Amino acid sequence: MKQKHFPIWQEGDIMPAFPQLKENIKTEVTVVGGGITGITTAYLLAKKGVKVVLIDRGKLTNATTGHTTAKITAQHGIIYHEFMSHFSHEEAALYYESQSEALKSIRNIIQENQIECHFEEQDAILLTNNDKNRRKLEQEFEAYTALNIDGEELTQLPVAFPMKYAIKMKNQAQFHPISYLKSLVDEIIENGGEIYENTSAYDIENADHRIVRTKDQHSIICDQVVIATQFPFFEGEAFYSARMYPSRSYAVAFTSKNPYPGGMYLDVDEPVHSLRTLKLDGEEYWIFGGQNHKTGQYKHDVAPLQKLKEFASKHLKLTDWQYEWSAQDYTTLDKLPYIGRLNKNRPEILVATGYRKWGMTNSMVAAKVLTDLILNKENPYIDLYRPTRFHADPDLKQFISTNTNVAKELVSGKLMQDKHTPKEIPAGSAIKTKQHGQTIGIYKDHEGKVHALDTTCTHLGCEVTWNDEEKTWDCPCHGSRFACDGKVIEGPALEDLKKVEYRK
Ligand code: FES
Repeated sequence: MKQKHFPIWQEGDIMPAFPQLKENIKTEVTVVGGGITGITTAYLLAKKGVKVVLIDRGKLTNATTGHTTAKITAQHGIIYHEFMSHFSHEEAALYYESQSEALKSIRNIIQENQIECHFEEQDAILLTNNDKNRRKLEQEFEAYTALNIDGEELTQLPVAFPMKYAIKMKNQAQFHPISYLKSLVDEIIENGGEIYENTSAYDIENADHRIVRTKDQHSIICDQVVIATQFPFFEGEAFYSARMYPSRSYAVAFTSKNPYPGGMYLDVDEPVHSLRTLKLDGEEYWIFGGQNHKTGQYKHDVAPLQKLKEFASKHLKLTDWQYEWSAQDYTTLDKLPYIGRLNKNRPEILVATGYRKWGMTNSMVAAKVLTDLILNKENPYIDLYRPTRFHADPDLKQFISTNTNVAKELVSGKLMQDKHTPKEIPAGSAIKTKQHGQTIGIYKDHEGKVHALDTTCTHLGCEVTWNDEEKTWDCPCHGSRFACDGKVIEGPALEDLKKVEYRK
């Protein structure tokens, strides 16, 4: 079968299309961002009778939500031991409870609405093949015991991952995220909500009401705004640019000679690998991911998708490689998401971000916390996820490391230049070079046409770098990404890269 360069979830294009906003409108709550957080929040609000408008700058679910591996689990890598050392036992327990409740809420919504979305209970398993990580996993299991998490230690697995030790979290789940979200979108409309696509929010004005301004000069007047864009498009004075860092990961779906033995796996050794399955149209697909790297720090000698293919061929009996895609995620200073009111000055603006790749349950936690805040209801998790929190340890250390990296990229990026000359660029690739003292990026398309761009990121001025796997210009500072012709794809940047004239 021919390889498809899009996520398996987009097969069949099941999400309906919505119009662009072409006038000024009024509502009670505007939700900006049509991924799983925005859709779930709009769904919960609409069900409570709140008048809600949901907008997305592209098509619903086309950003990170559409590029997930869709594991619904409270097992978020090795995290509980770390949370117990940095925070209190109660806070670590609250994190687990909030994520487990999120799984239950998703299951309830699926049952209540009889949604056919391939929902299946599965155990979640972390594994390692090295001694250093074995110790870390043993400590993680001690944390499971202390927090009463239903788990088990394993020394053998039914899949052929090289491994010495593993730990299981029982009764987690997986699903088809777009089939699930389509049903929520139908319910939003059914309950009087409005949805607009290709409608990019640009700014929020704060007067008697909130006014969400769009790039096309239209306004949505409302009482409260939920920012559910993966990186908040509006930062206020919350400084998310200094408090999160972006990373990319890659995923594929293939068929195997072996029947899938069940379970959802995460190999914690570098490079990490993730595995689950999906039965679709009578075919059993293995969804396999990993090869993470910081955004904008793509290593040209690694070729992440090729590495995944080699691993799958060697260990997982790959037969047919069918879909491949990639995703972007953000991590906060203390690894807990930021969910809640932006700050004291802007309490009518609410935000959810920084899920550290675990968006399925975190989005439900966020949707419930934000809905309860909007409805003035109590919620036990508001303090845990409050976006304005600051822990001296680990926030300070991570703050310094994140911002040292940004400063380094700001300076070194300007000095960087490829060894190759523009003439040597192969079709479908790019280099950076100097032209009259200015750093420019040159992409050669498959017809041999050259596209020259100013490689200064339009967000805060870092230098973008070329990602040859995805044919994009990626910014290492806060994760803005641009297509090979400079069009903004994702991240905090709102403007395209500037085109420049290339003089041979
Ligand atoms: Fe912030 Fe590029 S400078 S994303």
